[in-house]
Amino acid sequence: MSNKWAPDSWRNKPIRQVPTYQDEALVKAVEKDLEGFPPLVFAGEARNLKKQLAGVAAGNGFLLQGGDCAESFAEFHPNNIRDTFKVLLQMAVVLTYGANRPVVKVGRLAGQFAKPRSADMETVDGVELPSYRGDIINGFDFTEEARIPDPNRMLTAYSQAASTLNLLRAFAQGGYADLHQVQQWNMGFVASRPQGARYHEMANRIQDALAFMEACGIKSENTPQMAKTDFYTSHEALLLRYEQALTRIDSTSGEYYDTSAHMLWIGDRTRDPDEAHVEFLRGVGNPIGVKAGPSQDPDTLLRLIDKLNPENEAGRMTVICRFGAGNVEKHLPALVRKIEQEGRSVVWSCDPMHGNTIKSSTGYKTRPFDRILTEVKEFFGVHAAEGTYGGGVHFEMTGQDVTECLGGAFEITEERLSDRYHTACDPRLNANQALELAFLIAEMLKDQRGNGKVAATAS
Ligand code: PEP
Ligand code: CO
Repeated sequence: MSNKWAPDSWRNKPIRQVPTYQDEALVKAVEKDLEGFPPLVFAGEARNLKKQLAGVAAGNGFLLQGGDCAESFAEFHPNNIRDTFKVLLQMAVVLTYGANRPVVKVGRLAGQFAKPRSADMETVDGVELPSYRGDIINGFDFTEEARIPDPNRMLTAYSQAASTLNLLRAFAQGGYADLHQVQQWNMGFVASRPQGARYHEMANRIQDALAFMEACGIKSENTPQMAKTDFYTSHEALLLRYEQALTRIDSTSGEYYDTSAHMLWIGDRTRDPDEAHVEFLRGVGNPIGVKAGPSQDPDTLLRLIDKLNPENEAGRMTVICRFGAGNVEKHLPALVRKIEQEGRSVVWSCDPMHGNTIKSSTGYKTRPFDRILTEVKEFFGVHAAEGTYGGGVHFEMTGQDVTECLGGAFEITEERLSDRYHTACDPRLNANQALELAFLIAEMLKDQRGNGKVAATAS
């Protein structure tokens, strides 16, 4: 079989988790439309992110990746985008301030529409229908009609991604993310609770430092790092017809980039090195994430990394670990040892969400805050023991005051899950829980630094 890559070479490989469209001619027409649309991101931006991730891989930064499990057409609203962005900024400030290192901010936003499912069919009250696969593919409503894959949804997804990205760029570059606004990112319902108060105190200290620096002549007007921030987008590259249609040759480097987002990742169910998703992503220049769950073995991970990053380019690969609390020590050390021994440069990131999903006694899919925190602790614990660097976290979270994950300082109980359970797919941390986690991680990072583990990391 030929080793030559082309934007469509994935079509000759085995593939999982794809919809079967009824009208192939219509899909082709949609793909053609998308091919003519403007890119959503630029190759140069993806390269900047890669450079920043190379810093993280070397222990000189931290990756914060977060957002919805699944963006939805129904929840599309500027306030939702703004509030998720605000919480990510708050978390980034907490991590930067607490852990004293730059934080690379990557949203699961502006394109996170396609979902892998563990079952093709879903049964409710004896009725069986195809599973919901994300708004880019079919509808959430449990009706036969909604569950039919509709190619036109790709066009709606593109347009929603474009306007989301437009707003995010305005927020990141237009003054909203200026460090002097640090107090304004604290939303009303957060400010009145313990994490909000803690954040308020920290923001006061930052404001004192800013006032001092201003007296020394360093201010937003002359220091862009203070006035603006780099904010990147990412999603799971699952619906390859859509990804291929947005793949373009970059005129500067002559390389292909997938311009649907800065960073793309491959899910735990589609990461087989010989299958379509890996084939597609190996040929685009973007930074790439791969999820690693309990079934990932060290040799296959190495083969996967070598396929995706044969030149061992720093910043290209992020391994997003999601084993579940209590399972990290069983799986992570072997992966870390293999990859580090073989001298491959990767960012090790922790997704404490996907291995910790349970069903509550009240029937909701949920995640206990304690288990999320435990997995994060175990992740940093393994890196401390191995002398390697845990360089990032990956969360499903929202800026809204939802009740989807159990626990946290403002105890969400099983009975309260139904109050504001809005997710289109997996349960997300709400703004308070996300901020609480950021404070706890900042403390762990401080310890990691204190142990000299960061300095010990070779890259
Ligand atoms: C996800 O990130 O939403 C997801 C489905 O993750 P995983 O592939 O790790 O299960
Ligand atoms: Co999810």
